[in-house]
Amino acid sequence: MNSSSRTDNSQARRNADPNAADRRESISEDSIRPSCLADFIGQEAVVENLRVFMSAARERKESPDHILLSGMPGLGKTTLANLVSEEMGSGFRGTSGPVLERARDLVGILTELEEGDILFIDEVHRISRVVEEYLYSAMEDFQIDIIIDSGPNARSVKIHLPRFTLVAATTREGNLTAPFRARFGIQEKLEPYAEAEMVEILQRSARILDVPLEEGGAVALARRCRGTPRIANRYLRRVRDFAQVDRSSVIDRETAESALERLGVDSNGLDHLDRRILEVVGRNAGQPVGIKTIAVSVGEEERTIEDVYEPYLIRCGFLLKTPRGRVLGPDTDRLLALGYRSPSPGLFDTGEEETSP
Ligand SMILES: Nc1ncnc2c1ncn2[C@@H]1O[C@H](COP(=O)(O)OP(=O)(O)OP(=O)(O)O)[C@@H](O)[C@H]1O
Ligand SMILES: [Mg+2]
Repeated sequence: MNSSSRTDNSQARRNADPNAADRRESISEDSIRPSCLADFIGQEAVVENLRVFMSAARERKESPDHILLSGMPGLGKTTLANLVSEEMGSGFRGTSGPVLERARDLVGILTELEEGDILFIDEVHRISRVVEEYLYSAMEDFQIDIIIDSGPNARSVKIHLPRFTLVAATTREGNLTAPFRARFGIQEKLEPYAEAEMVEILQRSARILDVPLEEGGAVALARRCRGTPRIANRYLRRVRDFAQVDRSSVIDRETAESALERLGVDSNGLDHLDRRILEVVGRNAGQPVGIKTIAVSVGEEERTIEDVYEPYLIRCGFLLKTPRGRVLGPDTDRLLALGYRSPSPGLFDTGEEETSP
């Protein structure tokens, strides 16, 4: 049973629903999601390659080869998958790795596909091994075997599938097995966006949401959003809230900076949890700290820390991954040199001599 088929019409429950705000946010996220490839800012090499592969496939009147999109959360993988279907003028069916446990979870989806459809599997690194192996023949030969009947009457029947394109997204390309990865003819990696691209993305979102964002405000936000459009859009909405309540008519650099500070986001783009992670690692006086210890100490899931928080901290040079655990990175000193104000005393207290201001 598909969880999306569940409906809940109870107004009372809806009002009490703690996720209602998240859902409203996701509705407004939909409104700013680029709806054509021309609106998709940045990732030029990826977009250009996809354009070429799609137009070649169109000329041959075929569907494009299977596509693997990898990259950190919020960089635009789902958006691009939708845009492939949009540009190809083909149907879109979406599902996600964690719900595909048994081969039978996949059979229903595969047999409902139509010629040329895009089958999008999000978080594809989380599908089970049986489903992965079952996908092989669907991807390669466009056919699957299903078992009908049971007991002594059980027999295997081959089913032919229409030609479809599997677009798979993953935040952990390294977790895919080599045979699975090899079955994707097109593999593209999304990288964090440059500051100028983030400014453009923010200005586009501000136009759609009707937010009076000035250039200075856009730059201030762009510098602190980790090169990630989803984070940028979230900060934009929050800054808009602050500006509205404070009766600011425009969002300039000062308004943006002070709102972000109130949100706990510092000038490096680090938020409360980033700082907690660094604090836990720093407290251990140079000894590597395991991911489990970090997760328990900061009260967040290991997966979230590894996928969402660590990549940015590593990229900034604030954290290093070693085989024995995490240690503070070479650039942690930069935080202090920049006059880094830690909201939690003791941060970066590595047992070394104190740097006087
Ligand atoms: N290149 C872009 N230009 C403009 N907006 C973008 C771009 N990429 C992403 N966005 C915005 O960022 C939001 C997040 O993108 P998306 O949902 O596609 O990320 P994702 O890579 O699928 O993340 P996850 O791994 O968490 O599923 C989208 O709603 C979209 O509005
Ligand atoms: Mg996604």
